[in-house]
Amino acid sequence: MKKILVKGGKKLNGEVNISSAKNAVLPIIAASILCKEICVIEKAPMLEDVFVICDVLKSINSNITIEEDEILINNSNLINGEPDSELVRKMRASFLIMGPMISRFGRFKISLPGGCNIGTRPIDLHLKGFSALGAEINLGHGYVEAFTNKLVGNKIYLDFPSVGATENIMMAAVLAEGETILENAAGEPEIQDLANFLNSMGAKISGAGTDTIKIVGVKELKGIRYKPIPDRIEAGTFMAAAAITRGKIKINRVNEEHLKPIIAKLTEIGISMEKRGDSIIVDGNSEFRPVDIKTMPYPGFPTDMQAQMMSLLCTVPGTSVITETIFENRFMHAGELKRMGGNIKIDGRCAVIEGVDIFTGCEVKATDLRAGAALIIAALAAEGCTKIGDIYHIDRGYVNIEEKLKKLGADIERVDIEE
Ligand code: UD1
Repeated sequence: MKKILVKGGKKLNGEVNISSAKNAVLPIIAASILCKEICVIEKAPMLEDVFVICDVLKSINSNITIEEDEILINNSNLINGEPDSELVRKMRASFLIMGPMISRFGRFKISLPGGCNIGTRPIDLHLKGFSALGAEINLGHGYVEAFTNKLVGNKIYLDFPSVGATENIMMAAVLAEGETILENAAGEPEIQDLANFLNSMGAKISGAGTDTIKIVGVKELKGIRYKPIPDRIEAGTFMAAAAITRGKIKINRVNEEHLKPIIAKLTEIGISMEKRGDSIIVDGNSEFRPVDIKTMPYPGFPTDMQAQMMSLLCTVPGTSVITETIFENRFMHAGELKRMGGNIKIDGRCAVIEGVDIFTGCEVKATDLRAGAALIIAALAAEGCTKIGDIYHIDRGYVNIEEKLKKLGADIERVDIEE
């Protein structure tokens, strides 16, 4: 059983390079289905979730090779089979292949997706979008199936700005006949990046990043090379890690615009943030103040940084409140942080955090991807040794996290422990 062991108390210092965004790369790989020519993803993050989506595609005859940090995808011989359901259930983002597959083959069957255990995470908005474009949808026995003679553009209003639904519908509409207008769309940077990828291939998408996206259908897409945006959540995680150890680090390859809500909160806490080109210097050597955080769709504060901020706020004197509005079950890390001495009270979607002097190391378990990152952050500031289990969650979304932290001076290692 692999675990991450952290001996806390070391101030982080030095530089770290941010990998490409997992949440941009996953839909981009799904979007490659729309193209019969070769697509190359440059500077791809070598992560478990990326390997899973590649394996999902390979299970329907995609020819994918990984060379260093490039992923070469050749979908010319893709078949309209059912992708391996074991793989699909491993990760919710597998469902992002549905839009492109309906578009390419006119019918598609896939098992209902899995993913982090942070809420019920329905797919109704995706399916409403496919129906509006002319697909007939059947649900049953753990599967969803879609049929259509052709997809035709339409006006679609999303009840909630879902990231995945916006991406899936956008991909389905790219080769549809006529014009699609997607209203109340999500505007996350990863959606903008997907639109940039598709437009570079010849798609006609405008408005990505705003709440109204217009997609004018085109006949075909051409193969391209593409470098995705840097991972704003990985960058935010390192910012929180530097702050909690009261260290000072330079974070390279970041897009400051994408990090605005995270930078704003860290600055409010009292952390110094200095921009230098495409780097940011984070200095945690100051007095910290408690803050209130509410997770919101972009450009609001990202839910994917909520757990890491909770760890940091546990060490900030005074009372902070976190309200989680995106997922209904995303406070599982609070229980583990309490084991480490955190003073947190949960009431529905609110967490009230009273700052404590110090965390104390103990055995904890990652309950989902970002919860795992939160435990590493807490452990960096804890007295003694913390053993983090179920670290496969962390490997889904962070490239070499312990190597990167070790380079910054953390005492962290991955060990194989007999149960
Ligand atoms: C994406 C991100 C994830 C992030 C989340 C919110 C990827 C691969 N994952 O997930 O890291 O935490 O955005 O920023 O990009 N919902 C519905 N019906 C639907 C779809 C969603 O009710 O059809 C609800 C969900 O249950 C959830 C909320 O909408 O409560 C947000 O989900 P969504 O934006 O779709 O997140 P994902 O795309 O799954």
